[in-house]
Amino acid sequence: MKFLIFNGSLKPDAESNTFAVCKMAQLAFEKLGHSCEIVTMRELDYESSTGDVNDDLKPYIMKMFDMDGVIFATPIWWGTHSCYIQSLLERLDFIYSWAKDNKYQPFYNKVLGTLVSGGGDGFQHIHGVLYSAASNFGFTIPPQCNIESKAQGIEEIKADEDTLNQVKNCTINMVTWARILKEGNPTKDARHGSVDINESLNEGKRIPRKKGQKRKSKKHSDLYTDEDPKGTIHGLGFKDEAAARSSVAKIRKSGRSHAHKIQAAVAMEQRAKAAGKAGPAAIYRKFINSMKKKTKAKNKKK
Ligand SMILES: Cc1cc2nc3c(=O)[nH]c(=O)nc-3n(C[C@H](O)[C@H](O)[C@H](O)COP(=O)(O)O)c2cc1C
Repeated sequence: MKFLIFNGSLKPDAESNTFAVCKMAQLAFEKLGHSCEIVTMRELDYESSTGDVNDDLKPYIMKMFDMDGVIFATPIWWGTHSCYIQSLLERLDFIYSWAKDNKYQPFYNKVLGTLVSGGGDGFQHIHGVLYSAASNFGFTIPPQCNIESKAQGIEEIKADEDTLNQVKNCTINMVTWARILKEGNPTKDARHGSVDINESLNEGKRIPRKKGQKRKSKKHSDLYTDEDPKGTIHGLGFKDEAAARSSVAKIRKSGRSHAHKIQAAVAMEQRAKAAGKAGPAAIYRKFINSMKKKTKAKNKKK
């Protein structure tokens, strides 16, 4: 199997504690019969961006698709991970967005580990932040795959039992879980969709926005305030059946997402019902039901 370590140290390899631990992890993967490449991010000429930029970092981001596991490696600077690792999280945003839009999570069958070198303060916070990001990117995080190396100085690191044991735990568990994922292929059965705003929408019930609640929060659904003015489909009505029919046509042609179309129709149905307009409400309902059938068919395909 293949593994890739992103080394986020700010120092050149020869002087870096983080790199020394990366090197130990690389050797461990190789001893287990797998390949492992270390990329030192400070050597790359790349842009800080959340977009898909063609620079030195892009080939390594693309390489992740071909890997069985990835490690984010960082020193601790004032309690947090380095700017290189932060920029990697940011640069992965375009894949995160692509996965949501295409309802396909390319990293589901891959494992992720973390490697942190520091004087002794802030490890867990960093693992937490990196795990959270990695989970959102679709990685599987096996147990005990968080290396914490407190040893300082390259010779001390090489001789440090604690570091060695954690490197062993991390690499053996990454290999073990990567193999399980390869064989079990959860990608084929897992849910690849993003959160569907309509799944949690309590249809027919008005839940007004309370003071302090964010706009567009799923905790409220207010028929009478426009929670997302930018995304509004204009000119929808419910005064009679003709108005409802032409509104449904407008929603269909709006170019909005499937979920957005349903949400707009549900809001109009609720408004029509609240105004005692059963006929127009029924027209919206018919459209909502036809869209829901499509949702079901889509989910079956996934
Ligand atoms: C400015 C500065 C801030 C640091 N902050 C922390 C910290 O918050 N927690 C910690 O455990 N170590 C901290 N350290 C220690 C480094 O994380 C540690 O020396 C690490 O091994 C450096 O890795 P590198 O050689 O790859 O740069 C700090 C060191 C410096 C110089």
